[in-house]
Amino acid sequence: MSAAPRAALTIAPSRLGFGCASLGSRVSAVAGLDALAQAFDAGVNWFDVAPAYGAGEAERLLGRFLKGRRDRAIVVTKVGIAPPERLGAIKLAYTLGRPLAARFAGLRRGFRALSATRNRHLPLTAALIERSIEDSLRRLGVDHIDIYALHDPDPADVARDDVREALQRVRARGQARAVAVAGRLEACRAALSVEAPYAMLQTSVADLAEGEPAFSTSDALIVSHSVFGAAGSGFARLADRLGRAPDRHRRLIAAGYDADPSRAAAALLLDSALAGNPDGVVLASMFDPRHRVADLARAEKPAGPEALALLAETLA
Ligand SMILES: NC(=O)c1ccc[n+]([C@@H]2O[C@H](COP(=O)([O-])OP(=O)(O)OC[C@H]3O[C@@H](n4cnc5c(N)ncnc54)[C@H](OP(=O)(O)O)[C@@H]3O)[C@@H](O)[C@H]2O)c1
Repeated sequence: MSAAPRAALTIAPSRLGFGCASLGSRVSAVAGLDALAQAFDAGVNWFDVAPAYGAGEAERLLGRFLKGRRDRAIVVTKVGIAPPERLGAIKLAYTLGRPLAARFAGLRRGFRALSATRNRHLPLTAALIERSIEDSLRRLGVDHIDIYALHDPDPADVARDDVREALQRVRARGQARAVAVAGRLEACRAALSVEAPYAMLQTSVADLAEGEPAFSTSDALIVSHSVFGAAGSGFARLADRLGRAPDRHRRLIAAGYDADPSRAAAALLLDSALAGNPDGVVLASMFDPRHRVADLARAEKPAGPEALALLAETLA
């Protein structure tokens, strides 16, 4: 594992990072650029993107947003997952379906379930690693990114010499300041088992909660994601349980949480993600202005031990 993971970054990362997974697909260019600017103005400087997001549109839009702001932003992109093959059809479906998908969650789920809309894992080769960064830099309109991550890799690929050497070449050329693994716990563990070159580990909150022992931030910068979206995060379950447990809910309100169970559940989940990753970056999707404002306010004041104990009790 690389020494001093933060040393490669030229600016200190914000506590919350902006997840761009829905940019250019569910979220239009206008709404996306507006959300990025609002988050940036509120202090968010970490932007997580990938070639597959929005079938390439997310990187293009993030590139537009970065004009004039590049030196104040940390950009993470990835390699290993490609958008569906029938790109033209997908982009047309995004454009035509966006107004409906924004209103009907069921339609969104149905769209994602179609095999033609599924992203594809690509075989991880040195050639792919070196070609994909060129394509990402072109779409982003920048000469380098800050972190280049293997996107949901097979744990066995993470430790392969040819993969690590290709990543080192990308770094040596100055195309990325650091390289990383963004994937499941086993892939992150594989990164920790080798000498170099990984400086950041990105994994879901649910996986981090499972990980024992938790990764050490002296080994790598830890980035957690899917606070609200992960299947294991239990957002709906938590909101439902709070709604049915008036006593617990009253204690939460006394601890400063919202009277609305759903908003209290969201705040609790974010608090636990922040507490579980105290020195790293917590990624969130921030396109809805209400979510963005609530999440940013939450990150400003960490939860007390009482609230975290209540969360554990409620989820048990
Ligand atoms: N392997 C990987 O590298 C990997 C895997 C998964 C995710 N990621 C990254 O992590 C980012 C975030 O993960 P995610 O998209 O899975 O999940 P997320 O941030 O948990 O968001 C999931 C949903 O929760 C909503 N939300 C956000 N704040 C909320 C709040 N306060 N109350 C209620 N709902 C709220 C979001 O809405 P809005 O969007 O409307 O605000 C979004 O629809 C992704 O965008 C991506 O960049 C990386």
